[in-house]
Amino acid sequence: MNCEQKFEGLRSEPSTRRRVLFVDHAAVLGGAELSLLDLATAYRQTSQVLLFADGPFRERLEAAGVPVVVNLAPEAALSVRTSDRFGALKVFPALGWMAHRVATLACDFELVHANSQKAFVAAALARLIGGPPVVWHLRDILTARHFSGLNRRLAVTLANRCAARVLVNSRATGQAFVAAGGRPDLVTLVYNGLPVEVFDRLDPAQSLAIRHELGVGEAPLVGVFSRLSYWKGQHVLLEAARQLPNVHVLLVGEALFGEVEYTAQLKTLAALPELAGRVHWVGFRSDVPALMAACDIVAHTSTEPEPFGRVIVEGQLARRPVVATAAGASTELIEDGVTGCLVPPGDAQALASAIEKLLADSGAAQALAERGAAHARATFSLEALLATFDQALQSVPN
Ligand code: UDP
Ligand code: GLC
Repeated sequence: MNCEQKFEGLRSEPSTRRRVLFVDHAAVLGGAELSLLDLATAYRQTSQVLLFADGPFRERLEAAGVPVVVNLAPEAALSVRTSDRFGALKVFPALGWMAHRVATLACDFELVHANSQKAFVAAALARLIGGPPVVWHLRDILTARHFSGLNRRLAVTLANRCAARVLVNSRATGQAFVAAGGRPDLVTLVYNGLPVEVFDRLDPAQSLAIRHELGVGEAPLVGVFSRLSYWKGQHVLLEAARQLPNVHVLLVGEALFGEVEYTAQLKTLAALPELAGRVHWVGFRSDVPALMAACDIVAHTSTEPEPFGRVIVEGQLARRPVVATAAGASTELIEDGVTGCLVPPGDAQALASAIEKLLADSGAAQALAERGAAHARATFSLEALLATFDQALQSVPN
């Protein structure tokens, strides 16, 4: 189902929605952008998206009928890492330019919704020079691993001073914001929502065809579906597979933010003789639900606390047993042994044991998967997301 169809039923309502300028610094297809795609599609009759980069996200927005403006920011501003100690200082002139762009475009809107940290800093600076109220949709856990002290202080200070609301994608994200000095009264929990119907329409024949194409036969298949990045921990699954001689691994995703070294490291691991013929590396795919349904187990392997983890909920919706690492929001999405399995982050041995246990008892694994699916359907639908999101935006004064 495409986004057009997905939001068919919501078309009659949008006039009641607020006029929002959504801003994102990136145009890749990461979880933050895929989540924004759903929001912006629902708001397309009143709102617009401003991107500071060009790429497949712009194409997906346009295909969904969302008005998009691309203002290319200087490359240095986009590529500087949030973990860079002096990153904010290095890109300050570019952030000023981005703020000016936001302030100019935002004149026609009631609110600015910032979907990334760089977008938020630009939007907050725009607010300081007379722009409209800013809502920061915080989708990251503000820890030292991902954000330098200076970047955290800058973002939190600007949030406390300029944000009308900080929407957090999980309790874990909200707690980290408050621990970093953020004002608790700004925080509103907005869990992500996923298109449940897409998973309900999965055709078992398609899963069989995928398994056939991969040439895995009857062998157990464990899939991991994240972008290639050290903290997403695909290497931990490959390490676990070394201990499970019959298990095949499906590696889906690509490096979205230039993680060349990590990709090379994974290639070296996958080429080990004991993994020969057992690692199926398929790159970025847009048929994740069908690929998940072709797996026996969906693995989430992040070595750092996960801010939300769409892939966990997608695995549940695909009615597959999900094994995830117990850090960050995973513990909000999965009740261990009830709606999925939790293992310690970075522990290949524990992951291998969890996989082995699930494969040894298919009845228990299927029961886990069914309970996971019921929980995900009830809690993480697009309708639930939009109801919370609409309410959060309605509560922001003009
Ligand atoms: N995804 C995708 N194709 C791929 C790999 C991942 O469409 O090849 C999607 C995946 O289905 C999920 C999103 O990318 O919806 C990743 O979101 P998540 O919240 O799990 O992690 P993030 O990358 O945002 O940290
Ligand atoms: C970020 C987080 C991910 C979350 C996504 C959508 O990319 O890393 O955990 O699911 O945003 O909110």
